[in-house]
Amino acid sequence: MLKSVQCGELRKESTGQVVTLAGWVHRRRDHGGLIFFDLRDRSGLVQVVFNADISAAAHLLAEQVRSEYVVQVRGRVAARPAGLVNPNMATGEIEVEAHDLVILNRAVTTPFVISEEGEIGDSVRLKYRYLDLRRQRMQDNMLLRHQVIAFMRRYLDEQAFIDIETPILLKSTPEGARDFIVPSRVHPGKFYALPQSPQQMKQLLMVAGFEKYYQIARCFRDEDLRADRQLEFTQLDLEMSFVESQDVMDIIESMMIGLYSAVSDKRIQEQPFPVLTYAEAMARYGSDKPDLRFGMELIDLSDLVADSDFGVFAGAVAAGGQVKALCAPGAADISRKQIDELTEIAKKKGARGLVWMKVEAEQLRSPVTKFLNPTERSDIPARCQAQPGDLILIVADAPAVVAEVLGHLRVVLGERLSLADPDALACAWVTDFPLLEWSEEDGRWQAMHHPFTSALDEDWSKLETEPGSVLAKAYDLVCNGMEIGGGSIRIHDQEQQQMMFSALGISPQEAQAQFGHLLEAFQYGAPPHGGIALGVDRIVAILADESSIREVIAFPKTASATDLMLNSPSPVAETQLLDLHIAVLES
Ligand code: AMO
Ligand code: AMP
Repeated sequence: MLKSVQCGELRKESTGQVVTLAGWVHRRRDHGGLIFFDLRDRSGLVQVVFNADISAAAHLLAEQVRSEYVVQVRGRVAARPAGLVNPNMATGEIEVEAHDLVILNRAVTTPFVISEEGEIGDSVRLKYRYLDLRRQRMQDNMLLRHQVIAFMRRYLDEQAFIDIETPILLKSTPEGARDFIVPSRVHPGKFYALPQSPQQMKQLLMVAGFEKYYQIARCFRDEDLRADRQLEFTQLDLEMSFVESQDVMDIIESMMIGLYSAVSDKRIQEQPFPVLTYAEAMARYGSDKPDLRFGMELIDLSDLVADSDFGVFAGAVAAGGQVKALCAPGAADISRKQIDELTEIAKKKGARGLVWMKVEAEQLRSPVTKFLNPTERSDIPARCQAQPGDLILIVADAPAVVAEVLGHLRVVLGERLSLADPDALACAWVTDFPLLEWSEEDGRWQAMHHPFTSALDEDWSKLETEPGSVLAKAYDLVCNGMEIGGGSIRIHDQEQQQMMFSALGISPQEAQAQFGHLLEAFQYGAPPHGGIALGVDRIVAILADESSIREVIAFPKTASATDLMLNSPSPVAETQLLDLHIAVLES
């Protein structure tokens, strides 16, 4: 090794030792006869001092050194005089008096200063990602990510899971997100697809008798990118045989509690994790991934206003809809402009309007009070358990619209009013999802999770007659308002799988062409099985207090799906295209 010790490990106890350090020059201060470096390696920083009286040669060379030079320093650890101790540095009680200096490599001026914490533009960060990754925040995030994955592997190994790799070159199937496809050179006009997840492979591994499988799996989905979505992301993927939903949930819950305790100082808000049915989550929070760090639940006013003179309310109830409210504590001092903003947000999410009411000690202040009778004026705040100073927001519409709008406003207000404890981890299970959802676009039913998810035993008989009311043996894990995992008990019976395909409008021929391998496999003794996949990037982002998963991925893509460092995607040579039997259409 070119070093005998890590910079960040030196302490007062090391005083007197002669050490060799190697790393990057983080900062440099020149005081004439004395030159100071903060020397950085992965472990942290230490102050190195070059004194012309101790080593004239080293001091002379140190004059040439600039930020981010890579250097090797040999010197003696010395206690700093009392007044010069730096309490903000782990190594602040000592410094290293340099005797020798070797410049291992020079550096041109970096496009941003590595040692400064401030905000840097995203595009420059991503173009020079290897420099961005030198910064403390990114070093911490990458270390945390490593710790999370290492914990998961250790835990699952102890639980007798085995890690099995599955192919990256798979087959395109019509369900789910858009596939990334890879042209075959040897089979003109044919394509592989990158896995959106190892779903079918892990089910086949259950047919193969492995009973407990896991993989830290890279998944690829050609979707629009968002703060919590990348084109390629990482799942902790697992599958188990001879289990029911509760068994999978138990294994994951104890892993998550162990993981959180091992790698984070944050407080687990509630354990065992609360379990909400999908219907309950939508009714109470307007979301299937509610942020449970704060209350502010949706309040149903439909019965109070069914006969109201205010047509917006009565009309919605008469049409089979709902009138629901949010009560934002202490938010009555909101300005006209802010109310207009919230109304705009509500309209973007599909509302036709937003009623607001400011609760005052003596009265209710709202543009609609004149339409409400005295009973309604007192019942509405009472039902909301509103205090003077609170703001009530009301939406009247079809249940799905009410949930969508108020669920979103709840998150927006939660953020504006700082209702969520940033140091809490509020996990919950959401269960009993509908098996199918209606796709307006395609005019047919789609699997809400995926087409291999089993219905509740008692619901199979309704699949043909009332497909919309069939519930699934599916469960999501949510944390702080994010979906961090999803899974289900699978269909392991060939006939039920056929029923499911037919409910999805997939003909037997089509099913055979797309999923023949799975249907065939199920004929050879498929065990009952189920599993889950956790979004590793999202879990790490929550623990790192990062609002985008980009910050916990070493080399992520931009929101417009590009890699600014590699300049990809990029054109390829004409000969490559020819080899692949591909012609590109000019657009
Ligand atoms: P699902 O599609 O719900 O299930 O994915 C599981 C988890 O993966 C994370 N995730 C993502 N993270 C970052 N970027 C994305 N684009 C992205 N998409 C999903 C989420 C999500 O909860 N095969 C099934 C699992 C199973 O049934 O066992 C599956 O992939 O945290
Ligand atoms: P209007 O009668 O359309 O002028 O609406 C009166 C008030 O009710 C306005 O403040 C609207 O924003 C609000 N409003 C209209 N439709 C709805 C609705 N579906 N839900 C909640 N508020 C509404």
